[in-house]
Amino acid sequence: MRSKPQLSRPGESYRPHVERLIGQATEVLSQAGYDRLLIHSGRPRTRFQDDYQPPFRAHPYFIHWLPLPRSPDCLLDIRPGRRPRLWLAAPEDFWHAAPDAPEDWWAQCFEIELVSDAAGWQHVLDEVSATALIADPHDFPGLGRHADLNPETVLGLLDQQRTVKSDWQIQCIRAANRIAMAGHRAAADAFSSGASELEIHLAYLHAAQHDPDTLPYNSIVALNEHAAVLHYQLRDAQAPERRRSFLIDAGADCHGYAADITRSYSADDGLFAALISEMDRLQQQLVARMQVGRSYVDLHYEAHRGVAEILESSKICDMSVDAMLEANLTSTFLPHGLGHFLGIQVHDVAGRVGPDGRHLPPPEQHPFLRLTRELQKDNVLTVEPGLYFIPQLLDRLRDTPLSGHIDWKLIETLLPYGGIRIEDDVLVQLEEPVNLTREA
Ligand code: GLY
Ligand code: MN
Ligand code: MN
Repeated sequence: MRSKPQLSRPGESYRPHVERLIGQATEVLSQAGYDRLLIHSGRPRTRFQDDYQPPFRAHPYFIHWLPLPRSPDCLLDIRPGRRPRLWLAAPEDFWHAAPDAPEDWWAQCFEIELVSDAAGWQHVLDEVSATALIADPHDFPGLGRHADLNPETVLGLLDQQRTVKSDWQIQCIRAANRIAMAGHRAAADAFSSGASELEIHLAYLHAAQHDPDTLPYNSIVALNEHAAVLHYQLRDAQAPERRRSFLIDAGADCHGYAADITRSYSADDGLFAALISEMDRLQQQLVARMQVGRSYVDLHYEAHRGVAEILESSKICDMSVDAMLEANLTSTFLPHGLGHFLGIQVHDVAGRVGPDGRHLPPPEQHPFLRLTRELQKDNVLTVEPGLYFIPQLLDRLRDTPLSGHIDWKLIETLLPYGGIRIEDDVLVQLEEPVNLTREA
């Protein structure tokens, strides 16, 4: 399946994006002491003792420059003061479909050399020039004397640059959100009509015009208690006898940029439905607080406070909100982080590194938090608080002195519903944050 994202006039934001990257790469090279930067797009790899290749996706550093997430064995050559040169591989291969021909809107930013395979650009590596090469070490076992593979300083600086999105990147993430929301609407309809997990998954793919190979991550399509499995990876072909709840975490891709969206539904109007409304209210409050200068760690704690308030008001727990937070009881119900950077990678780079390169580890009690920075203008991140009834974690809580504060009868009625997560993609701006998901 090949469906191309349709952006109107993509070149208008893409060209300034590449110009900005050239400026940034020039700075990185001078800071790190290199003359040029080579970026390989990657190479498909066969499975162990097999001749089967899982679907190919280009390295993120390559996608940062080029809207070619599925073009293996290309090489990009960037040198200060010169138009970047792209060695575009178009293999003579009757087993596979040929890659798309270059399109003007992106191709005009590069000097393009068409080659049939890596042998066509191999000589570039032999040049006497201080080179930083970004590539999978498997693909470059013997490097020339002049090249360093994946120098840490270079990768660190490039990762920092990816945390602040250009208009092109924002446009792609925005479009990915529109595509994904079409899928989410179809998935909600399929759930209402009693479909199985597999049928809902197929309805999503059809509406989003994606196949699983082009999704940015494996969709989570979970009915009933499966919604308590945070990364539930199976899809039952049979619908359950009784339909209680539905959690879907599914995205879409636009030119290599991801949407990452989760929605939760209840089949009845009972307590679980009320909890979804409460979580939706909390999620939107948190989204509104994604402002420049705020610490994402503090926002994560605010999410825990919000969950504690919901546990109290729904009478699941009879402790005070402060006491619940003090005892870290909310982590039983919200064991993951509030969210993460989003971009070419779903869990995008440098979430735990400050702008100065300093490592920012997550709080000890919240080891899964992927974003620990202060927010900056043009960061794109997810806001995804959850409230789950996970048997394993509840069993642990039952064995603690806090157990007496929990209404276990209520918990028993909620266990078959699994859990709730609501996730939107948000752009941080100087004034109000932009919710790219709700906007779609
Ligand atoms: N879909 C993966 C995540 O939400 O982080
Ligand atoms: Mn996410
Ligand atoms: Mn997600």
